[in-house]
Amino acid sequence: CRLQTRTLLYKKITSLMVKKIFIKTFGCQMNEYDSNRILDSVKKIGFQKTDNYEDANCYLLNTCHIRDKAKEKVYHEIGRVKKIFRSKQKPLVIITGCVAQAENEEMLKREPYIDFVIGPQSYHKINNSILNYIEKQKKINETEFDTDTKFNYLSKINNGSNKVSSFLTIQEGCDKFCYFCVVPYTRGPEYSRPFKQIVDEAKYLVDHGSKEIILLGQNVNAYQNENYRLSNLILEIENIAGIERIRYTTSHPKDMTEDLIEVYKSSKKLMPLVHLPVQSGSNKILKLMNRNHTIEEYLQIFDKLKGINSSIEFSSDFIIGYPGEDEEDFEDTFNLIKKIKFINSYSFIFSPRPGTTAANYELVDKTISKKRLNKVQNLLFENQININKSYEDKILNVLVENLTKDRKHTFGRSQHMTSVIFDGQKEDIGKILPVKIKKTNRSTLFGHIVKKSDKKVA
Ligand code: SAM
Ligand code: SF4
Ligand code: F3S
Repeated sequence: CRLQTRTLLYKKITSLMVKKIFIKTFGCQMNEYDSNRILDSVKKIGFQKTDNYEDANCYLLNTCHIRDKAKEKVYHEIGRVKKIFRSKQKPLVIITGCVAQAENEEMLKREPYIDFVIGPQSYHKINNSILNYIEKQKKINETEFDTDTKFNYLSKINNGSNKVSSFLTIQEGCDKFCYFCVVPYTRGPEYSRPFKQIVDEAKYLVDHGSKEIILLGQNVNAYQNENYRLSNLILEIENIAGIERIRYTTSHPKDMTEDLIEVYKSSKKLMPLVHLPVQSGSNKILKLMNRNHTIEEYLQIFDKLKGINSSIEFSSDFIIGYPGEDEEDFEDTFNLIKKIKFINSYSFIFSPRPGTTAANYELVDKTISKKRLNKVQNLLFENQININKSYEDKILNVLVENLTKDRKHTFGRSQHMTSVIFDGQKEDIGKILPVKIKKTNRSTLFGHIVKKSDKKVA
């Protein structure tokens, strides 16, 4: 009887021609992974992806709450959609992601154009929510933390990413409660997916063309399922025939355990780039942030990894102008950047987030924060330019990901994730090729493929 009802509903959807979904994604890689998995799910009830939102019968906004006026951005975007669809049939409007979780019911009240709100741990309910909405026209708010059920459900639907480099979420949520951050509230408590479920998804991705897997988690190195840690996962996944590269992001210094550091000795597929956000170079500020580690501990991790493999590079996130940051604290951050020479980093001015501890702290003067951010970014950019320059006339192994937009060149990434544009062809996509770097700028290396006879590969 349930099956009959579902079939009837399915027919109703088809007759209503609710078939094309446009997904706009804000935020981190985990949101990108989620958007892809949402698409995999709604395909089961007849939706196809469209890149043209004017064609869409369903408009889904996957939101991020990490900084600034996240909520206002969503309402602004909905305003735009409303205008576009003024003379057309209204699309189904779904808000997912971290703003959906934080605002839930409020969004439905404030903006009647929104039909449902689904939080990050409830994506397994999306098909039923759509079907129920079509049947009952009832506004829906799904924001429980039900991560286990979500991943059980998603593991039964194939991951449709057929990219050379694919994301794979292994861990969700956070128990660390840094005083500036909304993630523990929007993503819920730390949860690690079962080991076998992850390995099966990785195998599927590799069987369908992926050469690189990027393991994701808000605290990816806190992964712990039964006795399995991130180190065990890396070593298991690198045995999959056809996989070439493994990466993971984002890690917390506190969870950079010995077993993970040791993997850099034995793994053949783990790339020599560690994204390890430090946020500030000052112990005083780290304490005020509730980061639970010191700069000395961070430097120890850096030294150990460099000792294992000197080509390992670090990247980081920085929060500038955190409440309590004085000139001396800022100088500590500046000096840390000089010392570590991060290959690539994200830096932002502190943004008070509602509901977090630091939201009540006294702000650093805006002009001072801007000045400091400028100074930090100039130094980070200078590092990047110098590192990239040091690759000129060297040969790098590049994993070819795609053709460039104009289809005249190929685009790939070095072992350190730096973009490389060179003279490859469509047939090279998915291969690792030696590329001689001829020219560089801050973000990109330009080169040409070398013949096998060239030997010196960096
Ligand atoms: N779990 C990671 C860690 O512990 O480093 C970070 C994940 S968070 C999604 C990504 C980055 O956003 C953080 O590293 C931090 O630099 C930045 N961020 C988070 N909250 C912020 C805030 N209130 N203001 C400015 N930047 C913030
Ligand atoms: Fe946010 Fe990362 Fe801190 Fe968790 S560990 S609260 S995700 S910054
Ligand atoms: Fe944003 Fe949520 Fe990711 S707040 S950064 S989308 S975990």
